[in-house]
Amino acid sequence: MKQKIIFICLGNICRSPAADGIMHHLVKERGVEHLIEIDSAGTYGGHAGELPDHRMRRAASQRGYDLTHRSRKFREEDFLYFDKIIVMDDMNYENVCRMAPERKYLDKVHRFVEYSLSFPDRSYVPDPYYEGREGFELVLDMLEDGCARLLDEMLAK
Ligand code: 4NP
Repeated sequence: MKQKIIFICLGNICRSPAADGIMHHLVKERGVEHLIEIDSAGTYGGHAGELPDHRMRRAASQRGYDLTHRSRKFREEDFLYFDKIIVMDDMNYENVCRMAPERKYLDKVHRFVEYSLSFPDRSYVPDPYYEGREGFELVLDMLEDGCARLLDEMLAK
């Protein structure tokens, strides 16, 4: 059976669609598309239907990632469908956990920084929306690092 993972941020137009695109790329590269299903969503629905932010699409495309996800809001049913719910920051963590149908589902929620171990000084993936280019590059560096480790862990199961 496929393992299902969803990445969560606030708007689902910068961090989580980039994680989604990087993970799709890694899964294809390793030939494990039949084992892993990937999605992303935001806790805020104001950008629903939009492609990722143009600055993130440009920065990602320079690293070989084509980001085509359309923004959507995280829903309570996602707790039932997905095996792993990976959040980018503490606000996402609080907002997602508040939507859990029962306490037992909280075990599915993890912070992305549990996997981006090459960035030990970072306790969350910073929101690049109001940042310059370096903000987007830092996010992509963290996401590449953590997604590789996350996939290793999922495939080891
Ligand atoms: P994201 O970035 O959570 O990484 O997608 C943001 C996108 C939009 C907004 C904030 C953060 N916003 O305020 O609209």
